[in-house]
Amino acid sequence: MKHLLSAGDLDHDTAVHVLDTAERLARIADRPVKKLPTLRGRTVVNLFFEDSTRTRISFEAAAKRLSADVINFSAKGSSVSKGESLKDTAMTLEAMGTDAVIVRHSCSGAPHRLANSGWIGGHVVNAGDGTHEHPTQALLDAFTMRRRLRGGVGDLAGLRVTLVGDVLHSRVARSNVLLLSTLGAAVTLVAPPTLLPVGVETWPCATSYDLDETLPGSDVVMMLRVQSERMNASFFPTTREYSRRYGLDRARLGLLPEHTIVMHPGPMNRGMEIAPDVADSARSTIVEQVTNGVSVRMAVLYLLLGGADIGAPAPAEAIGEPVPAGVA
Ligand code: NCD
Repeated sequence: MKHLLSAGDLDHDTAVHVLDTAERLARIADRPVKKLPTLRGRTVVNLFFEDSTRTRISFEAAAKRLSADVINFSAKGSSVSKGESLKDTAMTLEAMGTDAVIVRHSCSGAPHRLANSGWIGGHVVNAGDGTHEHPTQALLDAFTMRRRLRGGVGDLAGLRVTLVGDVLHSRVARSNVLLLSTLGAAVTLVAPPTLLPVGVETWPCATSYDLDETLPGSDVVMMLRVQSERMNASFFPTTREYSRRYGLDRARLGLLPEHTIVMHPGPMNRGMEIAPDVADSARSTIVEQVTNGVSVRMAVLYLLLGGADIGAPAPAEAIGEPVPAGVA
């Protein structure tokens, strides 16, 4: 695989292999020196045309833990604000020599354009394109479910996962439905009719308008952010009405089986799709998802860029030992 553009690019065995690789790489986070020499001398560019906190930092941490050089580009403060196109920006990066480009863009399809245009020669990873896809988020979510509910091995066969909220604008939902169904999970989307996309009946999942009815049969409940910045119309009467029908509060938590986990990709609208005490409860995996994101992105970079042995020890200089003469 040269690029990771869609969660649908991953077949069952490849997806499980990425999760297994992430599981091995996660152990590095427990070491005092969190670094492997694997991608030494490689350059990874974070090309972010849209705001991001955790995804950009997560990719940066992942690339650095594998010893790659990381260049962070954000559209704000760059020549993009002077009107420079995606093509010219890409060709500039190419001219500087980059091995992989991690791209986030408000236009659905921008990473595909970058990967298939011939503007750049390196690997392209989709870090979120418009309302389309966010495959590494789906991988870290699957990794978190597998760790919490399947002992960190195998696939997610039979797991009942409910995604709740603004499915229409959610690239996280789209990528999760694709990946989770590949891994054998049974996915249900719960949303008001106005926030379900046209054609959702062709997706590999069930749909419902009734959250209370769906919660008792869920092993995982993933709350989606209401994406006001992408809304050009009124999709529900009031915030209060939305929370009352589709928000996860303490009372609704009581409808869930004992073992059920609560997820959210962040950033959260606390008090809207999720109550603050639910977000901070013992069932919530929200902080764990962030931690797992680094391991999963390390695995993706490692597999795409074809690194050396994962088990190789950290380089001498990284563990503070004197570097032998002649070693670069
Ligand atoms: C998501 C995104 O940007 O698509 N966040 C993330 O990457 N963690 C979800 C969102 O913005 O609601």
